Amino acid sequence: MKTRIGVLLGLLILPLLISAAPLKPGHDAVASAHPLATQVGMQILAQGGNAFDAAVAVSAALAVVEPYSSGIGGGGFWLLHLAKDDHDTFIDGREYAPAAASASMYQDKNGEVIPGASLNGPLSAAIPGEPAALVYLNKHYGRLTLAQDLAPAIKLARDGFPLDRLFHEMIANRVDKLKQWPAAAAVFMPGDQVPPAGYLLKQPDLARTLELIASKGDAGFYTGELAKAMVDAVRANGGIWSLADLRDYKVIERQPLVGSYHDMRIVSAPPPSSGGIVMLEALNILSGYDLPLLSDVMQKHYIIEAMRYAYRDRAEYLGDPAFVKMPLPRLLSPYYAAGLRVSILPDKATPSSDLAPVLAQAPESDHTTHISILDKDGNRVAATFTVNFRFGSGFMPPGTGVILNDEMDDFVSKTGVPNGFGLVGNSANAIAPHKRPLSSMMPTFLVTKDGLAILGTPGGSRIISMVLLGTLDYYRGGDAESIVSIPRYHMQYLPDAVYYEPDAFTPEAITGLGKMGYTLRQTNPYGNMQAITWDYKSGKVTAASDPRDIGTAIVK
Ligand code: DON
Repeated sequence: MKTRIGVLLGLLILPLLISAAPLKPGHDAVASAHPLATQVGMQILAQGGNAFDAAVAVSAALAVVEPYSSGIGGGGFWLLHLAKDDHDTFIDGREYAPAAASASMYQDKNGEVIPGASLNGPLSAAIPGEPAALVYLNKHYGRLTLAQDLAPAIKLARDGFPLDRLFHEMIANRVDKLKQWPAAAAVFMPGDQVPPAGYLLKQPDLARTLELIASKGDAGFYTGELAKAMVDAVRANGGIWSLADLRDYKVIERQPLVGSYHDMRIVSAPPPSSGGIVMLEALNILSGYDLPLLSDVMQKHYIIEAMRYAYRDRAEYLGDPAFVKMPLPRLLSPYYAAGLRVSILPDKATPSSDLAPVLAQAPESDHTTHISILDKDGNRVAATFTVNFRFGSGFMPPGTGVILNDEMDDFVSKTGVPNGFGLVGNSANAIAPHKRPLSSMMPTFLVTKDGLAILGTPGGSRIISMVLLGTLDYYRGGDAESIVSIPRYHMQYLPDAVYYEPDAFTPEAITGLGKMGYTLRQTNPYGNMQAITWDYKSGKVTAASDPRDIGTAIVK
């Protein structure tokens, strides 16, 4: 009897022991796409803030130093882990469509999609979610006051900071877009010139807007003078926002999507992001192959096919859960994955045209941002947020300093017509009043018995394939540096082509994949991943910012 109880206890306790993480890493770590924002995060942590305060501060700082990627005129997702409760949660600060939006709003009277209509100017802007998300994050999870969390961003906006090379290039590449909107041009092209690197860029209007949020919370942005200024300017320039749209916007706290790959637990973004679902479906397909035993070409073949099938289901099924019923249990079922696996041939690419009759184009260049944060107590944040394309809609309501997003382009303007990222879809992601556009952003935690990783990246439709490759790398034992550095390749079902970075495929892989029937297209390096890992046994924390860009990561 005793032995039996002993065995029973052992069986009960064993899994606890296996999954027991040391309680605290004892290190703070921040990885972000801009050195000044990373510094802000470390400063807030040193001041006694927790990872959630740091996330608010870094997000707000990025709105100032990297406004072409994200900002308070945009939205995003903040994935949190609360160490003391061992609890994960997800803050959905995604924009929603204005109430006056409609499924065909970007089509002309013949039903043709008007090129660029969902990408430029106030009509392309959805109602921002980032201000509400930051206020919520601070209020429910932070240790410092909102004013403390926002202070570094306000200072950077008011006192200015030296323009970096990347920012200079972003302005230079978007001169046409910015010139259309005088308030944006006045800030980013003073004297009608693209300012040189090193120029002290001050954004006093943005500083005032941030101060309003710091002192009044949601009300500072979503009601009152600022809201009126934004709505008036949007409407005067062809947009359809109303005061009620702003007033009614709410952050949604959701349960993260949880799945696994072999014995690794994956915590990622649920709908209205497609990222978690698509990655888990792809990993379910891949878990039926013994990848490490396969040749390099065969591994790539199966990974590309898994991407193809999973991205296809994104196009067919996914959208805002408040508006569409999605067959998520089926998409995430191992039996469904097994069925898909059967149709993947070992020696041949599957033409995407065998899967569904829609057309698409190549993805374009883009921007967004990701931050990864771990504090010494073990709280963590992965967050990806955006104004969508570089400088979003390009539109800045005068006097606000806020660049509005062009997130409406993440909806389907017409079934089968690709959006700016070449993504297609159907009515599941059609435009509707107060609906959230389907996203690919997927802040993610990976947890094994030996440690964990915090990761994510911008990159539009390529976000999902990047996080998938990063996940497989971590599973193979990669640290933060390796996760952000590994060469990337991408397939999104349509267009039926594999995009790859110069170092992603060996000459043998190029020949081998070519023989299987793949169309291979080399691209410039892409993505801007930020990752942190914590190894329980050694206690080592690693943090890294994508070497393709200017970001930094600090561990202390
Ligand atoms: O939510 C999405 O999927 C897109 N709006 C993200 C845009 C993006 O990542 C642009 N970045 N490079």
